[in-house]
Amino acid sequence: MHRKRILLIVGGGIAAYKSLDLVRRLKERGARVRAILTKAGAEFVTPLSLSVLCEEKAFTDLFDLKDEAEIGHIRLSRDADLVVVAPATADLLAKMAHGLAGDLATAVLLATDKPVLVAPAMNVRMWEHAATKRNVVRLKEDGIYFVGPGEGEMACGEYGPGRMAEPAEIVEAVAGLLVGGAENLRVLSRTALGPSLRGKRVIVTSGPTHEPVDPVRYLANRSSGKQGHALARAAATLGAEVTLVTGPVSLEDPAGVSVVKVETAEQMLAAALAALPADIAICAAAVADWRAAEEAGQKIKKRESGTTLKLARNPDILATLSALGANRPQLVIGFAAETENVVANAVAKRTAKGADWIVANDVRPETGIMGGDRTKVQLVTASGVEDWPAMSKDEMAERLLSRASEAILKLRPAAE
Ligand code: C5P
Repeated sequence: MHRKRILLIVGGGIAAYKSLDLVRRLKERGARVRAILTKAGAEFVTPLSLSVLCEEKAFTDLFDLKDEAEIGHIRLSRDADLVVVAPATADLLAKMAHGLAGDLATAVLLATDKPVLVAPAMNVRMWEHAATKRNVVRLKEDGIYFVGPGEGEMACGEYGPGRMAEPAEIVEAVAGLLVGGAENLRVLSRTALGPSLRGKRVIVTSGPTHEPVDPVRYLANRSSGKQGHALARAAATLGAEVTLVTGPVSLEDPAGVSVVKVETAEQMLAAALAALPADIAICAAAVADWRAAEEAGQKIKKRESGTTLKLARNPDILATLSALGANRPQLVIGFAAETENVVANAVAKRTAKGADWIVANDVRPETGIMGGDRTKVQLVTASGVEDWPAMSKDEMAERLLSRASEAILKLRPAAE
């Protein structure tokens, strides 16, 4: 993030003290930080401490004619490459969602044409209130990026989601919005999350499959379904009509998604085909490659010597959807979980399966990706390979879906 200009808006919450650490960490990574402190924010940290750390005057909400004449809120909002709101209080999120602009911070947020990243921080009840939920959905549709909140003990003594993401995590999220190599660093366009998927149909496969061997045994794998379910959730958040075809997992059904539960690869394929037509298909399931050639009618008995299990190949759902012709979704996305030569295998898989994009990840046990909450992927498209920073599976899902929505708008503009 060398020389990138970050405008940090500090809202009024106890987490504001962490924003001082955030400034320090962003500056350590080479960013230039300018700060705006809301009136409530100034109850928690002082303009002086922020200006010292930023090495520049911190702007406050006090209507200062001199500031306005020298720089103005419009320029303040446009001079930045990225606007970060941390902490973003329930009040600030509500004002942003409704386009209010009664003070400097909200006026800047309404005037900016730059990407905005918010780090919510509030009491768990406020975070879970229907009004905040509505505002968050609206802001995501508007293309606002979110980092956190995390879950844990809160300053008010309660426990749950609402804690502001740690400064290191916010810095990672900022880095995640900066794409391209050192030579050509740019910030993702504001529209990257922008175009909503309202009216679009999305099919997601998720989880493992269970292939019966006999009435009590099955072949399976370690997939948790976390990534697939996160993708379905993200697509629904962007307004899509989502069918999630899932193998056996111990996850809750995502809200607002129609969930089809299956066991085997053959059932998964049938359910995916039954969910057509779709604009986007994302095959995130870890489908078993083989099934028992014949399912034994009775439990197979132990034998003295080893017994041999005959296997048959399962259908490939990704390849089948990619080869559909007229009924093919506009954008077909597959995953490549690899333990070696990750990118080379993913590039080859894209062509072999006829998919548009492949999301590659390294699932060696030491990466903790399989079954974990975080991931680190490369996106392989026809135009090359993008290395994405480490992030949560939810964030990866949101980012992938926003890219997908952008892509399908380009593929079939306006006419609809
Ligand atoms: O060939 P491999 O299993 O590594 O390919 C992974 C990709 O293909 C994933 O997107 C997975 O969901 C999909 N796949 C599938 N049906 C199969 C095997 C894999 O859809 N039978």
